[in-house]
Amino acid sequence: MWAAIQVPEESIRPLNPRQQAIPQPGRHRRPMTAPKTQKDKASRRRRVLLSVLTVVVILGILATAGYFIKHLIDSKYFFCSRSVRFISLDLACDGTEDCSGGEDELTCVSTFAVNTTFPVRLTSVRQVLQVYSPGSGWRSVCNDDWTQQHTQTACKQLGYTHNPRSTGVPVDLLIPLLKPGPFTAVRPGSTATPTHQATLDRGACRSRSVVSLSCSDCGQTGSQDRIVGGTDAFIEDWPWQVSLQQGGQHVCGGSLVSPRWVATAAHCFTGSKKELTRWKVVSGRTYMGTLGGSSVDRIILNGDYDPSTNDYDIALMRLSSPISVGDSSRPVCLPPKALGLSAGTTMTVTGWGYLEENGKVSPSLQKASIPLIDKDKCSSPTVYGKVITSRMICAGFLGGKIDACQGDSGGPLVHFSTSKWRLVGVVSWGVGCARARRPGVYCNVEEMLNWIYTAIEKNS
Ligand code: ARG
Repeated sequence: MWAAIQVPEESIRPLNPRQQAIPQPGRHRRPMTAPKTQKDKASRRRRVLLSVLTVVVILGILATAGYFIKHLIDSKYFFCSRSVRFISLDLACDGTEDCSGGEDELTCVSTFAVNTTFPVRLTSVRQVLQVYSPGSGWRSVCNDDWTQQHTQTACKQLGYTHNPRSTGVPVDLLIPLLKPGPFTAVRPGSTATPTHQATLDRGACRSRSVVSLSCSDCGQTGSQDRIVGGTDAFIEDWPWQVSLQQGGQHVCGGSLVSPRWVATAAHCFTGSKKELTRWKVVSGRTYMGTLGGSSVDRIILNGDYDPSTNDYDIALMRLSSPISVGDSSRPVCLPPKALGLSAGTTMTVTGWGYLEENGKVSPSLQKASIPLIDKDKCSSPTVYGKVITSRMICAGFLGGKIDACQGDSGGPLVHFSTSKWRLVGVVSWGVGCARARRPGVYCNVEEMLNWIYTAIEKNS
């Protein structure tokens, strides 16, 4: 880079003496004056151009150096701006105030535990609306007197307002769990009140049908599986997949569950990873890049998360501003309660994680189709034994060979049914990767719905 500047600077110097040389008498004498001033101007212009170029290059070099130095410092230290000093990154968000004024404890992950029941949910593959009250428990909502305004209100409670729709599902077509009731119906004219407060118990539905809700255009993709039998994936087919990065490094995967919320694993936020401003959420990329990315203004870990057992391994990240939904970035659906997936059902796991145990992260998004493993099978002594809780599901092959791996954590395990993709699991743990009898273990999203809905509602 330096040579490029020095050569022209030297080559310009001999030009000046030549211009000052005494004009030779001859037939070129008259026209000489005009070219001389032109040459003068040209050389001056060249000199100005070169100085500008030199300044630009030097500034560029300084900026690059500054960038790398900042990066290096940022990866190890937290800067207390008020007391103007650096503290070790491990001291930020450790629960004690190390900067004066406690700036190091201001923008940190938080934990949230629920001991209440979120009063609205969707149940079974038909997404039947149910409401909860402490006295009567869960009741399916009859389609009687149900209006579009009720749909709007119920969807808002569930955290979605994009294109809400409702249909009636005949009670006769419900799964055995739901068919006998109990039922409830809205009081006419109660549209604006929260749905669970607007209902009265019913022995049966007058309309003989219940409300089925679709609150968002979640889980839709452009095209499916453009590479048959391959493992390379395109973000347009898995547009909820995001890369969670710190200091430009991919740390974990995650899934957009709405334009502003990302579901991921709680174990992604251990040690020095608790400080919010260091995180970037990169969406819409097949090839993992570091450019762009959304900043994060809240990270909520499940309060019951236990790092020693990986139980309740789920967290939510709130983006500082919602992503703009398009073909390469859009949310996945949360599963309804009692989706009823049976062992052997094919699911897809995606991510940029290691391509082999002790390997490296993949530059391009990968996908793998894996079957759901029976709970008893996964808890058998030859597989994982007693460590599998009801907050976990196992997926993969007992013969090994195909699995998620390091770096896929927090990413999606999805299932396609009734024309939408649903987030069934969150990549959590495994012993090694793709080993025989050591399948991947995922956080069971269906068991976390109450926590997810409550956390999102309390932070919206
Ligand atoms: N805990 C790992 C991570 O942080 C992911 C583990 C998934 N392992 C597996 N064998 N499925 O990225």
